[in-house]
Amino acid sequence: MNHEKALVEEAKKKAALAAVKHVKDSFIVGLGSGSTAAYAIEALGERVKHEKLRLLAVPTSYQAFLLAVKHGIAITTLDEHPEIDVTIDGADQIDAELNLIKGMGAALAREKIVASASKLNIIIADESKKVRVLGENNHPVPVEVLPFAINPVKRKIEALGGKAILREGKGKLGPVITDNGNAIIDAVFGLIGKAAELELKLKMIPGVIETGLFVNFADIAYIGTSSTVEKIERIRHQ
Ligand code: A5P
Repeated sequence: MNHEKALVEEAKKKAALAAVKHVKDSFIVGLGSGSTAAYAIEALGERVKHEKLRLLAVPTSYQAFLLAVKHGIAITTLDEHPEIDVTIDGADQIDAELNLIKGMGAALAREKIVASASKLNIIIADESKKVRVLGENNHPVPVEVLPFAINPVKRKIEALGGKAILREGKGKLGPVITDNGNAIIDAVFGLIGKAAELELKLKMIPGVIETGLFVNFADIAYIGTSSTVEKIERIRHQ
């Protein structure tokens, strides 16, 4: 691993370690997806092992499920535990109000369901994820779509001013298929001034299962650098 990459991994780990401190004995924990959340799952596994924490976890993806099993964290479901004490997850972009773009790992639908069932949502990331405005650098909004509706949804996204690209798989020909059996359209809108408004418009398109815009979900973000961790808390507007 080159030096720069090692520093980024160090930053992600630091953010993850800060977040897992919020977890207490007997908690129901939401496990996020992606490379940063993976560090949190590993750290939670360590706490289960050394502090004998009795946790039950709801994974947000097959990746998170496998990591939980690997690190000795017991699994539960939203059917058994519809209320989660704390969820720790990564993000692809984070603005100053803690609105997010998520879904580059295609786990956005379960991530949002788990976040909406959580009393506390903690986002962990390295500082490259911080942006002034969501959509910076033409970052796409991932949109999970019923396969039957791919083309009509693409056209409707384009009518909203976005560029719609069907996400292709790596290591397999053809489109990415999510853990829910759906496709992902990456929708590029440029700078997203009104994320809540865009989110509503996208959700109104028949065939859209979920979008990667997470508005007013995150409560706390831990942003790691190679030497420190910045804590940002969401200001709640009444
Ligand atoms: C998964 O679908 C995403 O929402 C992830 O949370 C996001 O892509 C962050 O991943 P990394 O921590 O690997 O950057």
